[in-house]
Amino acid sequence: TRIFISKDIAALAVGANKTAARLEAEAKARGLAVEIVRTGSRGMYFLETLVEVETAGGRIGYGPVAAPDVASLFDAGFLAGGAHPLRIGRTEDHPFMARQNRLTFARCGIIDPTSLADYESLGGWRGLARAIEIGPAATIAEVLKSGLRGRGGAGFPTGIKWKTVADAPADRRYVVCNFDEGDSGTFADRMIVEGDPYALIEGMTICALAIGASKGYVYCRSEYPHAGKTFSEALGLARSAGYLGSNIKGSGLSFDIELRMGAGAYVCGEETSLLESLEGRRGIVRAKPPLPAHKGLFARPTVVNNVLSLVAIPTILEHGADFYASFGMGRSRGTMPLQIAGNVRFGGLFETAFGLTLGEIVEDIGGGTATGRPVRAVQCGGPLGAYFPPALFDTPFDYEAFAARDGLIGHGGLVVFDDTVEMAQMARFAMEFCAIESCGKCTPCRIGSTRGVEVVDKIMAGDRVSENLALLEDLCQTMKFGSLCALGGFAPYPVLSAMRHFPEDFSPRALAAE
Ligand code: NAI
Ligand code: SF4
Repeated sequence: TRIFISKDIAALAVGANKTAARLEAEAKARGLAVEIVRTGSRGMYFLETLVEVETAGGRIGYGPVAAPDVASLFDAGFLAGGAHPLRIGRTEDHPFMARQNRLTFARCGIIDPTSLADYESLGGWRGLARAIEIGPAATIAEVLKSGLRGRGGAGFPTGIKWKTVADAPADRRYVVCNFDEGDSGTFADRMIVEGDPYALIEGMTICALAIGASKGYVYCRSEYPHAGKTFSEALGLARSAGYLGSNIKGSGLSFDIELRMGAGAYVCGEETSLLESLEGRRGIVRAKPPLPAHKGLFARPTVVNNVLSLVAIPTILEHGADFYASFGMGRSRGTMPLQIAGNVRFGGLFETAFGLTLGEIVEDIGGGTATGRPVRAVQCGGPLGAYFPPALFDTPFDYEAFAARDGLIGHGGLVVFDDTVEMAQMARFAMEFCAIESCGKCTPCRIGSTRGVEVVDKIMAGDRVSENLALLEDLCQTMKFGSLCALGGFAPYPVLSAMRHFPEDFSPRALAAE
């Protein structure tokens, strides 16, 4: 009997290895033949360690299974799908899974991440095969038509970026994958690279074919050594199997990928400082223009795409632009892997077509807070995203709808807070974060963030509150419009939204009462 257990780092953090070892030992002691397959995560982190058993009726899940639960699973006959308090039924039928549109994460949690046979058996390399068949121009046209927009957060149309690079005259072009996933509450890039790394290799190879690049780089944040290891292994195996290197599978295409680990700076997720870092310099933001699409890595035209943008590509090529574009709303086409985190009951990855409301995501899918207290605020789009109160829970998850309410969906991370959160503290945190992570190149961010912390401190101390609130608002506007990049430019979003939606937390009376 085959048993599936995740080796995703989040599952390991809650003891997946111990559960797996106990399962193996217990099976041996009982004289039962089992094969334990280590997969990526299904994304239902509230059920990790999730143990799945292959039965004639599909994979039956049990979770969360800690090592001491293992003997009782055997006693209950779980190898045949037997009843047990931890049994969730067929994993696919679990409400958290059944409501999703898993396009990008279709294989994640199901396959052995580095097994080429598993990847091939579930549609792997079909997107690349089609791209090779239709050629570069038609591949770009397909990506354009799909409506895919940059999943790193800015939402720029991926097809236009690729076309800009393909059309730029140059002796060399590069494809760079931004895997410096640093937003609070986000883990989708990590989860897909740990769970389905060939999808990223395939997406980057399709991009290389489309733009005429022979070299690609993946810039991985230093905090993801486990994902780095999985990806390195996948690179080696893909190369040996002829999916990377010269004349890929006889197509005439030559392309290879190098993995580079960052050193822990949040700002290196900004594309130009990422490029500086890749070139071996300190990660300081470059002024744009020139855009990386014209003059990027080593001054050559470069596509810099987020992991999620690149892993969406094989699906688009395999199933066609129209299929992908049939999901979503307005100008937000396709699916978005939401990462539901913070103080929430059902935390995890939920891939869905754009358009669910924030309330549906937090209350129905996330199940409200883990503490059982009322939800007071949700921060979308990382530490630089706005805080939304329940009064804005009717906002659909869509780039434009969030922007219209002075928010951003960013990379799809949602961090939930209950009614014990102090919003003046959160505003202070945004400024402090910006001060710590600022690259120092421009004044509004470098100086403004530190002054911002001081002004919030004064407000919290009850010092000339209305005067200082006006000053803080003014400072935020200066940072928003005067900063060189999104770090200083977006830090005002959490501050202004906290002031606007939770004014009671900034009132002299509330502060005096603390
Ligand atoms: P941006 O709007 O300046 O650019 C978006 C992308 O489009 C860039 O790659 C840019 O080079 C490209 N681009 C713009 N105009 C173009 C043109 N005419 N032709 C070709 N390419 C063009 O946004 P930026 O500063 O790159 O990113 C800001 C976003 O980053 C924010 O919205 C935020 O949500 C997100 N973010 C994501 C984080 C994460 O961990 N994923 C962390 C922090 C911020
Ligand atoms: Fe550097 Fe901040 Fe200016 Fe961005 S906004 S360039 S991080 S100083």
